[in-house]
Amino acid sequence: MTATLSPPTTAVLALTGISKRFGAVQALKDIDFDVHSGEVVALVGDNGAGKSTLVKTIAGVYTPDDGQMTFDGKAESVASPAEAQGLGIATVFQDLALCDNLDVVANLFLGRELYRGRALDEVTMEQESWRLLRQLSAKIPSVRIPVASLSGGQRQTVAIARSLLGAPKVVMLDEPTAALGVAQTAEVLNLVERLRENGLGVILISHNMSDVMAVADRVSVLRLGRNNGTFNVSQTTSQEIIAAITGATTNAVSQRAARRETHTAAPTATTEEQS
Ligand SMILES: Nc1ncnc2c1ncn2[C@@H]1O[C@H](COP(=O)(O)OP(=O)(O)OP(=O)(O)O)[C@@H](O)[C@H]1O
Ligand SMILES: [Mg+2]
Repeated sequence: MTATLSPPTTAVLALTGISKRFGAVQALKDIDFDVHSGEVVALVGDNGAGKSTLVKTIAGVYTPDDGQMTFDGKAESVASPAEAQGLGIATVFQDLALCDNLDVVANLFLGRELYRGRALDEVTMEQESWRLLRQLSAKIPSVRIPVASLSGGQRQTVAIARSLLGAPKVVMLDEPTAALGVAQTAEVLNLVERLRENGLGVILISHNMSDVMAVADRVSVLRLGRNNGTFNVSQTTSQEIIAAITGATTNAVSQRAARRETHTAAPTATTEEQS
């Protein structure tokens, strides 16, 4: 598939020509996007650029009007979030959806509790919880405290650990550091690196350019529902990415993106085509 931009693995998830319209609003138009195993791809763009719509399309919440998705080399279409999860696509939504009054173990296994006979198998669930948290090198003091007493970073950790229960191949994180302080942000970024080390493909939505530059391998920019460039983090600057997000230097950026994309794949829409 893509030759120069991508690491030397096959894409675990690839989208081509994805479009989605809500009534008069063209939320996504002809989107190409991919992520490889062991890679972090940041998905960035201004408010209303289509990031959440793209994530929800991948997660099976929305059905695209057009376009293809391949997962693990096979063409797939997901009709529901359960189907996406079954394939191996996990999503950590921005609100985390944790139950504050329950402890870490109960949150990790919510709706997927393990039983021994008719009783909950607390021992195995607790062991499995520690295994998951160790895998993330997570700093959680106890798995038997209510998540209400955890810090924001620790809560994010629990939500990410929960998404790993079904052994996914791709994890999507929606603004995982948006509400966090400096130290907690560093903790969550470490976590993202653990996910990559464990061979997962990670899609990171973020408005924070320093997080993106710190942890992502590639950055995919959406603008007004269209691709507006994909950048290798090692070969770009945050100024260049911000310009692609805002369209400030539309010509330079889109020409550069087009140049790169002609090396790699079929030409995609540039910003000049936007009305
Ligand atoms: N369910 C919906 N019904 C109608 N329009 C929608 C719906 N969801 C999104 N849109 C529209 O699609 C466009 C893209 O929205 P989306 O939420 O994907 O943007 P975003 O990049 O996630 O923005 P933000 O950074 O503000 O979260 C916007 O114009 C939005 O108003
Ligand atoms: Mg959004």
